[in-house]
Amino acid sequence: CGIVGYVGPNDTVDALISGLRRLEYRGYDSAGIAVSTPEGSITTRKKAGKLARLEELLEVQPVEATNTGIGHTRWATHGGPTDVNAHPHLGDDGKLALIHNGIIENFAALREEAEAAGIALESETDTEVVAALLGHRVAQGEDLESAFRGLVPRLEGTFTLLAMHRDEPGKVVSARHNSPLVVGIGEGENFLGSDVAAFVSFTQRAVAVDEDNIAVITPEEVRISTFAGEPVEFEEFEVAWDAEAADKGGWSSFMAKEINDQPDAVANTIRGRLHDGQVEIPELTALGDEVLRNIDRIIIIACGTASYAGMTGTYAIEQWARVPVEVQLSHEFRYRDPVLTDRTLLISVSQSGETMDTLMAVKYAVERGVKTISVCNTQSATIPRESHAAVYTHAGPEVAVASTKAYVAQITALYLIGLHIARVRGTMSAEETQQAAHQLDELPEKFREAVATHEQVAQLAHWMADTRSVLFLGRHVGYPTALEGALKLKEIAYIHAEGFAAGELKHGPIALIDHGQPVFVIVPSPRTAPIMHSKVVSNIQEIRARGARVIAIVEVGDTSVLPYADDVIRLPLADALFEPLLQVVPLQWFALELSTAKGLDVDQPRNLAKSVTVE
Ligand code: G6P
Repeated sequence: CGIVGYVGPNDTVDALISGLRRLEYRGYDSAGIAVSTPEGSITTRKKAGKLARLEELLEVQPVEATNTGIGHTRWATHGGPTDVNAHPHLGDDGKLALIHNGIIENFAALREEAEAAGIALESETDTEVVAALLGHRVAQGEDLESAFRGLVPRLEGTFTLLAMHRDEPGKVVSARHNSPLVVGIGEGENFLGSDVAAFVSFTQRAVAVDEDNIAVITPEEVRISTFAGEPVEFEEFEVAWDAEAADKGGWSSFMAKEINDQPDAVANTIRGRLHDGQVEIPELTALGDEVLRNIDRIIIIACGTASYAGMTGTYAIEQWARVPVEVQLSHEFRYRDPVLTDRTLLISVSQSGETMDTLMAVKYAVERGVKTISVCNTQSATIPRESHAAVYTHAGPEVAVASTKAYVAQITALYLIGLHIARVRGTMSAEETQQAAHQLDELPEKFREAVATHEQVAQLAHWMADTRSVLFLGRHVGYPTALEGALKLKEIAYIHAEGFAAGELKHGPIALIDHGQPVFVIVPSPRTAPIMHSKVVSNIQEIRARGARVIAIVEVGDTSVLPYADDVIRLPLADALFEPLLQVVPLQWFALELSTAKGLDVDQPRNLAKSVTVE
């Protein structure tokens, strides 16, 4: 869920709605706001559905707001996405409003407690129980902040909570436990948000609130303290994103814009890390060369698209740094009682830096003394802060739920990490190092050409609008690309799609091939991977003989597939390890265009959220 808070003299409703619009990627089942009014009361408006529904409601039922407000966009956990279950929830007879991100695990016990105290509850959510108990404390004479201090340590699970009370106008009190919270510092106004996107159009000055802290904002002041009440010193940082970067900028969807942004996303991720043909990442140098020299195994953990970036990274890092590398899904990792030693290095990959499954896996590793590196796109998010080193991708804000530019930036960052470790360990020859640096250098320009496949792919998607199943085949680094191509289609076009390792085809999946079955085949370069290339061309012949409709993704000049492919998409030349960065681009366009052809919402697909902050 996304949360925003505002105190200050400017248009409160505008600050809340604009923040929610930028946070809508965190969930869009329902949205709501609570504001202080000139009569000294609190008014709420909330609505099931996307933020636009709430905005429509505010047009027919406008609110007059004074200087305080909180807002929420929800991804339903407890209780369905209904108007009643939408946040904010009220306590103390409507004098207190509260919003919540996360899950309160002991909510059943708290609910009994509330009922025993004679408090009536109207929704099915864990949040309402917290609002009721908080309100009860205030009704008995505590101020909002001390009510927080009394109640919050008793809550189990994960939460960011924001609350305001009628009798304390100009103040929002917040707390966080295993869930993100950032303060935005303005001139005579202050903000709270789940991440900096919430207030980036108003201020670029921010403070990350630490775990188990309470933050209180008024127009003039920001105060942070521990749950126990110890004051906490805090440091401001400057948000690197600007407001325009988070706008659609004339594109039909955020996803289309973000696919187009990829040359810059990759260039910005490389910038400052490549010097005279050598990769040096200052954040890793700070970790110490000794750590990297000593490792005997790397585990990459991630979920969704980030896990396919991780999988791509395994091939390159292993080849360059000569360390065994494996990728594991974050939510599977700790339950297998993994073998971890002081020579294990864990690299997490997460665009948002808030995915709860990944955060929990990182904490598990840190507790066992494992060194952790975070590859993350969001400044000061929780995962990089919990890790020993953070290597940021500089892809800029990614808004569409289906990840595109963050994915290629993640692969780029993993490659840079691989080259950094290889340099420290001395595992690459001067010539290999030079060659890899040259490939990195040329990437942004090649991306421009890959992005230009749009029109051809759009045609294809248009013809295939009725397709009910699509398969993807790839070998080596083409395999994770196949998985990512299939995931994109599932996410935004809602059709059945599977990615397979091309070599695995004959061991089962080939039974799926029937007349007209579309299959995207990712063909490795015949120049730099000739053996793999010929194997994949054989695979194409095998499926073609069984009636498949073959769409081949090849490098420019590769004519070997022409006799067997129905469609051929050509990409610029690159060394084998660098090809997946380019090959994914037409697959992204395909998913986007198929989703569009089916009349679906490209940026906000059903049932998903961009950042899943529950386990
Ligand atoms: C969610 C999103 C996916 C994303 C995954 C990991 O499931 O719907 O698109 O790939 O989380 O997100 P992260 O922020 O950790 O990269």
